[in-house]
Amino acid sequence: CTALAVQARTLDDIKKDGKIIVATEGQFAPFNYFEGTKLTGFEVEVAELVVKKMGLKLEWKTLGFDALLTGLGQNRWDAVIASHGVTDERSKAGTFANPHYCSGGIIVAMDDKIRNAKDLTGKVVAVQTGTSYLENVQKIASIKDMKNFPTDVDARSALVSKRVDAWVTDRFVAKEVAAKNPTVGFKLGELVFVEQVASAVTKGNTGLADAWNKALAETMADGSYQAVSMKYFNEDVRCH
Ligand code: ARG
Repeated sequence: CTALAVQARTLDDIKKDGKIIVATEGQFAPFNYFEGTKLTGFEVEVAELVVKKMGLKLEWKTLGFDALLTGLGQNRWDAVIASHGVTDERSKAGTFANPHYCSGGIIVAMDDKIRNAKDLTGKVVAVQTGTSYLENVQKIASIKDMKNFPTDVDARSALVSKRVDAWVTDRFVAKEVAAKNPTVGFKLGELVFVEQVASAVTKGNTGLADAWNKALAETMADGSYQAVSMKYFNEDVRCH
């Protein structure tokens, strides 16, 4: 360690303080978003259940998606929960907890002929910067162009205003957007890839990750996870 290095807070440090600091984005409904000034969403509620079982108070921070893992590496917060898919690249930067849901990136268009990766040939695709959607769309060599947006909501707007031909986002995000805006004409296509989604702690902070995993498993065993999942999705979104 250099003199300037800041150590991650251990589980003991956090327990002594009584409060864990968790960062999220707040612009990814129905997972993490604002209802007026109140931060809410499926994974916000799951985190609240988990932290309560850990016997801690929870202090939320909300930041741009891109800042979340960077700040974790700088120990500016103890954990992040913002629908991060578990990837090898991200695992180098942080330690993932066990997944709190399983999902995938889905193609959304206004034209029902754009359904799968092949149909994206010669098309312009919108994705949120820093996401697994970006990484996976990049692999589709036949696309004309990919446009990045600071939030997933901006990527969606680009589709609605026809600045792009398709938007790749989470399948549950897409389902909700389509259901809530039936007159807009969103057409849901196929999944481009699937992923496990998990919260993360500072790389190597395994004591904290273990405690989080134990509490998460309890919420999955006692019905409280399922109740929150049913409330948001009308199905249980845990990984099987
Ligand atoms: N699941 C995708 C990923 O792993 C998107 C996450 C976007 N999260 C957010 N809060 N906007 O990158």
